[in-house]
Amino acid sequence: MMRLDKFVADTAGMTRSQAARAIRSGTVTVNGVPVRKPEQKIDENHDTVTTEGRPCTYRRFRYFLLDKPTGVITASKDPHQPTVLDLFPPELRRQGIFPVGRLDKDTSGLLLITNDGEFAHRVISPKSGLAKVYRATVEGSLTPEDVERFRNGIVLADGTKCLPAGLEILSEGECLVTVREGKYHQVRRMLAAVGKPVLTLRRLSVGPLSLDPALAPGGYRELSEEDLCTLFKLLHM
Ligand code: URA
Repeated sequence: MMRLDKFVADTAGMTRSQAARAIRSGTVTVNGVPVRKPEQKIDENHDTVTTEGRPCTYRRFRYFLLDKPTGVITASKDPHQPTVLDLFPPELRRQGIFPVGRLDKDTSGLLLITNDGEFAHRVISPKSGLAKVYRATVEGSLTPEDVERFRNGIVLADGTKCLPAGLEILSEGECLVTVREGKYHQVRRMLAAVGKPVLTLRRLSVGPLSLDPALAPGGYRELSEEDLCTLFKLLHM
């Protein structure tokens, strides 16, 4: 048994207070009957709950696409700095969501957030080979030789060899970088290795998922059934 407002918040992706408001407004039914008490207990395994006529089904796993702003760290908790999870309401944080991989504090863009450990593991694994595309602005002028070095696999300053990667020059100091692995500070270190230190870095896509133009920085949306079908197929899940 659980409280109706918690069930609606968890299943409809609302905050607890949004759910309570929806319930008081009479748009939530339990077994076909409108219920206006947020504290009412329901049996989440047997009762049928709808909001605005749509059935609410309990989803154990949640998947979100976040447009990470700069200045926020990719961690679940930090005593001193804002984290990506601070951008989500407590109702969702309580479902055990965490970031899939990491973006640096100064990097913005697409970050997946989930509570599905197997999914996260597969997205991060270089074995799955998901392409991640970044737009970077750099100091200095990018050259066709840089493109060639990326294609052959960059060797980082500490001797680490990277897999072949894509470098597309957009203008003298702006490029798209495509990588299929996720080493620490990889894109910054790759561009530094060709003498072009990064000024700004933004991740535009991960596999088939791209940043959503409807999202403001710090905004997120739940992945659609279609997004998940495509991704699960690619990840052999
Ligand atoms: N590469 C980096 O250097 N930083 C990021 O945040 C992501 C990829």
